Parts: sequence; structure tokens; C-alpha cells
Amino acid sequence: MKVAVFSTKSYDQEYLEKMNADFGHEITYFDTPLNPLTTDLAIGFDAVCVFVNDKIDQETLRKLAKDQVKIVALRCAGYNNVDLKTALENNIKVVHVPSYSPEAVAEHALALILTLNRKTHKAYNRVREGNFSLDNLIGFNLHNKAVGVIGTGEIGSAFCKIMMGFGCRVLAHDIHQSEKLIDSGVEYTSLEELFSGSDIISLHCPLNTDTHHLINKQAFSLMKKGVMIINTGRGALIHTPDVIHALKSKKIGYLGLDVYEQEAELFFNDLSESVIEDELILRLLSFPNVLITSHQGFLTKEALSQIALTTLENLSDFENDLPLKNEVKTR
Ligand code: NAI
Repeated sequence: MKVAVFSTKSYDQEYLEKMNADFGHEITYFDTPLNPLTTDLAIGFDAVCVFVNDKIDQETLRKLAKDQVKIVALRCAGYNNVDLKTALENNIKVVHVPSYSPEAVAEHALALILTLNRKTHKAYNRVREGNFSLDNLIGFNLHNKAVGVIGTGEIGSAFCKIMMGFGCRVLAHDIHQSEKLIDSGVEYTSLEELFSGSDIISLHCPLNTDTHHLINKQAFSLMKKGVMIINTGRGALIHTPDVIHALKSKKIGYLGLDVYEQEAELFFNDLSESVIEDELILRLLSFPNVLITSHQGFLTKEALSQIALTTLENLSDFENDLPLKNEVKTR
């Protein structure tokens, strides 16, 4: 099948190429994103393969249909960037990768915690410059600390298990409780109890109308002074101006972010020679106790292999008229 891959990064190409040896699709890679201005690149292809910031809106889809493209294969779980109704009207199928490696994201949350706590990023730079002093590098033991986990699905469960392994008390909040986690010692609580009882709070719930700006001024008023907040979920789970206020007042002791509400303008790109105009991220970066990574929770060999494999399987299933197990449909 002829596939046009958009928003290609070197790692996408590397893993798709490796896996495609078993599938034999005819793949062409474009680093440009797919949007109404770039749809002409898809002429002559049966399928387009896209990522989180490609714009698969009504205009893009109508042009793709005119160009005889039959399927949009997302190489991610989320599909908020696809107009599913227009896809259906134009007989274009949409497939995605629902779950690839929960441990990849859970382990990245742990990496943020350990780095913020034990300040290994600062020690690394210091020692390389011949500064062997230990001033201002004091951390705290994770053992016996209370960790609050909001959202105990695939990633949240993996994260709970990791934190139990560190000897932490794990408090959790979810609209559905997991019996397995309860049996392993996780304590489900109300959101309020989780906020007031946790030394570390990690977000693993989806972004929706209930969770939008869940971490805000009101939530901070309930939290312990010096709390650590970790967000590997979605940027808009956190109200950024309220977080900045809480950092200034020292309510937050540590903040680790892998996602940011305005990340589409910044993340996945090298802007080191550009003038960054986003004042909020610049303010966040000015705090010594804030660590930001640019949405790399998924970036492990295992997760990339699984994403590539499922994407290519989705395309082969379509080509061979098999049921599309990962089809995304309008509700
Ligand atoms: P999942 O669907 O397995 O788990 C989500 C959990 O959140 C479910 O147990 C659900 O009941 C719970 N939930 C839903 N609404 C809630 C609410 N109002 N309050 C508390 N809990 C609620 O999803 P999974 O795979 O664990 O992913 C979680 C999130 O992680 C995704 O929605 C995505 O935003 C983010 N993610 C981040 C990545 C990264 O690279 N940083 C990569 C993949 C996902």
C-alpha cells in the first residue's frame, strides 16, 4: 500500500522502516505536517500516516478524499485533531494506536520525580565544571512518602506499582477503582483527601471537561506546602497561571512537566535560535525547581516499536479487507 507519512522525525522513520520489512508497504516520508496547505503531497497515495499536531480538519479531509486517499493512520492514541464526521462523510477510515507502552510514560514520570528530588541534572553540570560541592543538592527519601495518583488506568496503574516498589504510600483517585490495585495496597480517596495527604501528586487521567484545569488555585489551597506536582498527562490538566502563583508563594516545592497547555507551538521543534514568545513557559523555566521535558514520555524503543507495528498492522488490515480493530469512529 502506498503510504505518505507526515510530520516525520528521524525516530519515526527508523522504527517504521525496521518494522516495514515484514509488511512491504511503499512508504514516503515528509517532515512537513499534514494540513490543508500540504494535502497535495498526498496525491497518488492510498494512506496518510499522521501524529498529534497534524491538522486533519474538514478542509484537509475533503482534499484527501478528492485525491483518492482512503485511510488516515494515526501513530498515536489521541485523535482530537481529526474531524471524524467529515472522515465518515467522505468514506475515509481513521485508525489509531490505542495503547503502546504504559510503562514508558510511568517510568518517565519517575525520572522527573528522581531528577527534581535528587537534582542529578544540577550535579551533572556542576561536576563537569570541577565543582564538587554538595550545597543546595539535598533531596528527600521517597520511602514512606505519600504519592497521590490521579487516574489509575494503564499508565496510572504502572506508576502505582513503581511507587509501591519504592515503599511509598499510594493514594489514588479515579472514577473507576481497580480491585487489583486495592489488593496490592493502593488506597482510593476523594480528590480532596488526595490533595491534602500527598507529598507528590502525579496526573494520569485523560483531558476532558471534568479534568480541564483540575490543578488550580482551589486545589493548591488544599495541598501540603512544598508538594511535588508531576504532569505527564495533558497540559491543560493544569492551570498554568495558578501554578506560577503557587511556585512564587512556595506552595509548590517541585514541578515536573512533560506536557504543557500551549505545547503545539513549541514541542518537537528545535527553537534554540528563535525568540520564544510564550511568556508562561519562559516564566516556568525561570524557576530552579521546575523541570520540563517536551512530551517525551512515549519515547522509548519499546513504545516506538509498538507504535510502528500497530500502525503498519492497521494499514495491512485495511488493505486486506480485514476488520479494523483500531478504527476510530464518531460517537
Ligand atoms: P487510560 O484510559 O488507560 O486511563 C485513564 C484513567 O483515567 C482511567 O482509569 C479513567 O477511569 C481515569 N479517569 C477518567 N476521568 C477521570 C477523572 N475525572 N478523574 C480521575 N480519573 C479519571 O489511559 P492511559 O493510557 O493510562 O493514559 C492516560 C493519559 O496519559 C492519556 O489520556 C494521555 O493524556 C497521557 N499520555 C501521555 C503520554 C506522554 O508521552 N506524555 C503518552 C500517552 C498518554
